[in-house]
Amino acid sequence: MSAAPTGKARARITTASLRQMKAAGEPIVMVTAYDAPGARLVEAAGVDAILVGDSLGMTVLGYESTLPVTMDDMLRATAAVARAASRALVVADMPFLTFQITAEEALRNAGRFLAEAGAHAVKLEGGVAMAPVVEYLVEAGVPVLGHVGLTPQSVNVFGGYSVQGRDTATALALVEDCVALEAAGAFGVVLELVPAELASLVSEELEIPTIGIGAGAGCDGQVQVFHDLLGLGQFQPKHAKRYADVGSAITKAVSAYAADVRSGAFPAEANLTHLDADVAAELQRLLPLTGEDA
Ligand code: KIV
Repeated sequence: MSAAPTGKARARITTASLRQMKAAGEPIVMVTAYDAPGARLVEAAGVDAILVGDSLGMTVLGYESTLPVTMDDMLRATAAVARAASRALVVADMPFLTFQITAEEALRNAGRFLAEAGAHAVKLEGGVAMAPVVEYLVEAGVPVLGHVGLTPQSVNVFGGYSVQGRDTATALALVEDCVALEAAGAFGVVLELVPAELASLVSEELEIPTIGIGAGAGCDGQVQVFHDLLGLGQFQPKHAKRYADVGSAITKAVSAYAADVRSGAFPAEANLTHLDADVAAELQRLLPLTGEDA
């Protein structure tokens, strides 16, 4: 007799779901993940969307910025996340120089995230200047999440990772960026390191959801970096809250393992397999193999 189903699989979150969440005033929860175990864990926590961020360059690959991250790095990470995520919307970040050169090249690269890696959408950095590329991708069937404010791929233009849109001119430019992205068909926009009042104004102005990081509670959702939430990063940014110190837990666990190996406490009886007695006896008889019969 087959067991009765205990529950229905929950439907996949889509870009339309995020828009409905904004309309319903329901905050959107997005977090980064870069591999299958990470995706499984954040999905079990019930997040709405997973961003395979190019922050992977800094959190996982040990680079000082996101600039060296390649398509291959992102495709491999995205495919691992997509295999593990059955409900959350999976958004892949387009690396530096994979979408800025021509719209055709941007489409070729963006399409790979959907066709080869199983992402549902891509994210790319930039506002007004990138709007034509966003439009081209959306028309070709690639959902796009915009990203304005502090756009880390432009760290060398900004001269650091600082809050953007603090004066009237740059604040207005940021609003124009968001309006252009919405008009181009973006399904949402990440606001990174933007003053809270500005982020609230933008969120009210737009029909598409805003997803903030360091942009205050007036955004329609929040995105955080996995390593910042869990204490796995080398430093703690102001815009992040550490919800657990998994880094210390890992160091403690691996230290205990090292101590057990050094003391002989590991592996124990429970961690090993024995030869059958007759095979052990036969081997004893045949060894060593250095004699005449060897
Ligand atoms: O790469 C990333 O993780 C991001 C988020 C910080 C928004 O772009």
